[in-house]
Amino acid sequence: MSHPVADTAPGEHVDALALVRDTIADGGPEEAAQRVVDVLHERFPHYDWVGIYWVDDSGSMLVLGPWRGPEATEHTRIPIGTGICGAAAASGQTEIVDDVNADPRYLACFATTRSEIVVPIIYEGTVLGEIDIDGSDPAAFGEPDALFLEEVAALLAPFRPTVAGAA
Ligand code: SME
Repeated sequence: MSHPVADTAPGEHVDALALVRDTIADGGPEEAAQRVVDVLHERFPHYDWVGIYWVDDSGSMLVLGPWRGPEATEHTRIPIGTGICGAAAASGQTEIVDDVNADPRYLACFATTRSEIVVPIIYEGTVLGEIDIDGSDPAAFGEPDALFLEEVAALLAPFRPTVAGAA
């Protein structure tokens, strides 16, 4: 679901949403998602690792797209329904996990991760992908992050590339 972020989010999120809009407009469409990932990572210190997964053509797999963070993840392909990422893609609902080590769904990527937020990218009721953010503090993410990132996700929906399914 999308919310009017300007009514509910703190100022830093409102300013950042304007920055995201400018970032998308300011350059070619192919790299728009990477530019947004970079802005999110630079602007919010608690967004330690930021990535976008896109749903592939088969509709059953998440494939890692642009990302920014201290290290690469081995989870570049995640079946929908698996992990916190797969759960958000399956339900179409934002997932906020305050303590990843207490969540049996969690697929570990980084030793430093303590909390995670996953926000589906939805267009006309179909999940096209998601924004996945890891934090190194417990409970790093809250409702303001969810509201803001749901707006960002809506802006990203037109930039989903064609992602071939597994052969
Ligand atoms: N932790 C995620 C997997 C992706 S990495 O965080 C980049 C999950 O549980 O689905």
